[in-house]
Amino acid sequence: MIPPLRIPLADPGSETLAMKPQIMAAMECVLDGGAYILGPQVTSFEEAMAARIGAYGVCGVASGTDALVLAMLAAGVRPDDEVIAPSHTAGPTVAAILMTGAIPVLVDVEDDTGCIDARLVATAITPKTRAIIAVHLYGHPADLETLRTVAGSIPLIEDCAQAIDAKAGERKVGSIGDFGCFSFYPTKNLGAVGDGGAVSCARAEDLEIVRQLRTYGWSRPQYADRDGGRCSRLDEIQAAILSVKLTNLSTQIEHRRATAARYRNGFKGLPLRLPVERQGSYHTYHLFVIRSARRNALEAHLARQGIGTGRHYPIPIHQQPAFARRARVAGTMAVTEKLSGEILSLPIFGTMTEAQADIVIDAVQAFA
Ligand SMILES: Cc1ncc(COP(=O)(O)O)c(C=O)c1O
Repeated sequence: MIPPLRIPLADPGSETLAMKPQIMAAMECVLDGGAYILGPQVTSFEEAMAARIGAYGVCGVASGTDALVLAMLAAGVRPDDEVIAPSHTAGPTVAAILMTGAIPVLVDVEDDTGCIDARLVATAITPKTRAIIAVHLYGHPADLETLRTVAGSIPLIEDCAQAIDAKAGERKVGSIGDFGCFSFYPTKNLGAVGDGGAVSCARAEDLEIVRQLRTYGWSRPQYADRDGGRCSRLDEIQAAILSVKLTNLSTQIEHRRATAARYRNGFKGLPLRLPVERQGSYHTYHLFVIRSARRNALEAHLARQGIGTGRHYPIPIHQQPAFARRARVAGTMAVTEKLSGEILSLPIFGTMTEAQADIVIDAVQAFA
């Protein structure tokens, strides 16, 4: 029998409740203010985020998936165009491509970071390529410098869903490509109390297009002239909560990094591969993903100890029927397929204690 969970993989409830008085006050402010859609809270959150990441501007939308769809539409992606993305990613990265009617072109990832392999992107580009999506996997930035060169004039879209505040050199993700797409799903490093997302833009005209797309394609009230418009707004109440949580984000990420350092120390000498932090990169450890040749047995061992784990991601995109039916696979998927059999995400969250981390370390050591 599996015992009750002692340590969860993520703990969005405790992260949120740690700021409950400020969050309640912010929610009350929205209720009392009476502006419930695209009011002052969304505007001030968008401004704070743009300033924080160093983007021209930010547009709050309903989810990370919608952020990707709207960014692609604004980049000019149309049905039957091709969009290049990694096969080792969360399903929504590629679901978003399908929502635009475009064809996902899937490439393999780097063996060390698990992020899209820029050299393979170069070989997957065709005259139909209309965008490239780089996923900053687990909180580690993809190789944007090489990708920017490889992409040339093709729009580069950063999937920052797992990586808010991650840095490549001195620049934050979401400020390097043409668009950055963020998710505020509750378990993310900046999590809402429900769904939410945002698109960061490098140019004023793109920001304007994304804003029109999120409100029915209106260029002015009750006048739709932008194709692909929909209803995809960040809720005022979620924006108020996110603004509160933004004040604690740096501390929370540093806490995750300290947990990651503790794990590294505790796992020294064990037959595991630990996450890589490439030189010059700042990893935000949305997930702490180890690799083990005996992954299934380790996973079962930790479950018996009441330790929550995850597989991010167990089945590559190119092997999932709904994606495979429409996607084109460019090259082999040797790394992606190997990763899917070896990866194991260990507990990590903004309120994790050292004692909790030590329980995980002891349990992993006892297995090895
Ligand atoms: C890499 C990646 N892209 C996109 C998304 C989609 O975000 P959301 O769940 O907010 O739509 C997620 C989160 O689930 C994700 O991890």
